[in-house]
Amino acid sequence: MSGAPARLLAPSILSADFARLADQIALVEPHSGLLHVDVMDGRFVPNITLGPPVVARLKAVATLPLDCHLMIEEPDRFLADFARAGASLLSVHQEACPHLHRTIQRIREEGMRPGVALNPATPVETLDLVLPDLDFVLIMSVNPGFGGQRFIPVALDKIRSLKRKVLDRGLALAIEVDGGVAEETLPALLDAGVDWFVAGSAIFGAPDPAAAASRLEGMLRG
Ligand code: DX5
Ligand code: ZN
Repeated sequence: MSGAPARLLAPSILSADFARLADQIALVEPHSGLLHVDVMDGRFVPNITLGPPVVARLKAVATLPLDCHLMIEEPDRFLADFARAGASLLSVHQEACPHLHRTIQRIREEGMRPGVALNPATPVETLDLVLPDLDFVLIMSVNPGFGGQRFIPVALDKIRSLKRKVLDRGLALAIEVDGGVAEETLPALLDAGVDWFVAGSAIFGAPDPAAAASRLEGMLRG
């Protein structure tokens, strides 16, 4: 990777109609760079969504890379399954990984691009020693588990501080933000240095998801 990573919109299918996923994905793909897939286990977060079999079917209909966000305990048990299912990018939560360095290496060994997600209360400094090993850091701007929550502003301070580390250390990693991303919150996120923007309800909760994605993408192009 050379220079700053491209700014990308990553629609989160969590807010899409699960009975019509292929149609919903086709609507937003022309305006997006990644497809964000939220995996929840009912233990790490108080909600359950989907697992590798569904990811494999998404892979069959999607043209964009699948960005799988694992909100699960013991993610190491499932890394190979998500790789086989077709995940291109895979993020695990720092809070769920006692052996984070090893987990990151295994994600890469499985042929996926590794990322680590941070809950709102987890400082970016917890990743200082592994930043060179990562392709991206996912800053949660809501508490993980549900779509449609209100943006938590402390995420902006964390993004700024991570951006400084990336620039000071000459790292190539992308900064991804997830939670409460919408037309109202986007300008501050752009200003803070975000590269990849996950948006669920702002796209799939809108009357016209394609138009909503197109508007957000237009804002990223500036
Ligand atoms: C929440 C998920 C998000 C969710 C964001 O735990 O990780 O990806 O879809 O939803 P919005 O964009 O509605 O806040
Ligand atoms: Zn997510």
